[in-house]
Amino acid sequence: MINSLKMLITGASGFVGGHIYHQARQQSKTCAIYHQNPPKEMSGEWRQVDLTDSSKMQHVLDDVAPDVIIHAAAVSNLDVCEESPDLANAVNVVTTARLAAYAREKAKRLIFISSDMVFDGSRGMYKETDETYPISVYGRSKLMAERAVISEKSNWVVVRTALVYGKPQTGGSSFSEWLERKLRRNEQAHLYYDQFRTPVWVDNLAEAILELAAGDFTGVIHLAGANRIDRFSFAKQYCLFGGFDDELLVAKSVHQDAHIAPRPVDVSLSVDKARSILKTRLLSTEEGLRRLFSSASRSNNPR
Ligand SMILES: NC(=O)c1ccc[n+]([C@@H]2O[C@H](COP(=O)([O-])OP(=O)(O)OC[C@H]3O[C@@H](n4cnc5c(N)ncnc54)[C@H](OP(=O)(O)O)[C@@H]3O)[C@@H](O)[C@H]2O)c1
Repeated sequence: MINSLKMLITGASGFVGGHIYHQARQQSKTCAIYHQNPPKEMSGEWRQVDLTDSSKMQHVLDDVAPDVIIHAAAVSNLDVCEESPDLANAVNVVTTARLAAYAREKAKRLIFISSDMVFDGSRGMYKETDETYPISVYGRSKLMAERAVISEKSNWVVVRTALVYGKPQTGGSSFSEWLERKLRRNEQAHLYYDQFRTPVWVDNLAEAILELAAGDFTGVIHLAGANRIDRFSFAKQYCLFGGFDDELLVAKSVHQDAHIAPRPVDVSLSVDKARSILKTRLLSTEEGLRRLFSSASRSNNPR
């Protein structure tokens, strides 16, 4: 039963962790961690911790004594990781390894949020059993963190997720938020037609993660949207469901831009395993966008 569990959520001031926290605290006792950016609204139990400070992290873990840790904190920007590999290692790898060791020692459950960027993107529709081969510092750091979790042979789940869309709750930002800002300002948005992902609506992702947190599944699982799509086509759907002018969308190739970190072409994820395990249904982009815009209009959230 999820309501009898004490949860600790790292990265709760970020985009994904913020939504997990928001849903979790309606169901169970939950403590949230932020680092440099206080959440927009600090209701509930919040702690400020730099997770790279092992003694402070240990103090919070002992004090909160969570049954489940959902570890969403990371340096999530590909280019920042590429330029600062030591930071990527300290936050993404070392911190995760410490949390995994703590979870094993204290027999706690750990849900680690990883990424589709552990694949090289040469094929797409990757299954959990497919060979990993990251092409960026960020992707390598997430893979090394996965290995640190897996090596503890305890009560863990590695969740690989994909491009996450939706409106930030406590903080952080999303690709769809960037797109919406452009559309609202009547600015053109240039989007790749040749980079493929399986985008997932953040509310749908948070629900699936919390189902895993309360369950007993152990292993690697892909939580992504139900369809593979390029960014330009996703933006077309965004305009359709959000009532924006799609004439502002301009298609371009991923090869037109000089990126600091290399971008994989197709890291779409197969969600067959999640379908067979979870009650939460992973939505297509059409279903997710329809729900995103209907929940926004219900909450009178101006778009
Ligand atoms: N968003 C996506 O499309 C996507 C796709 C695939 C995988 N993921 C994974 O999902 C997770 C969440 O991503 P996101 O988009 O929500 O990231 P985000 O918005 O950038 O949030 C990152 C979070 O990590 C925290 N953090 C960073 N360094 C920290 C430190 N030293 N100590 C404590 N906390 C620290 C940040 O805290 P402060 O802001 O308070 O400093 C923030 O709460 C990450 O593990 C990411 O790799 C995300």
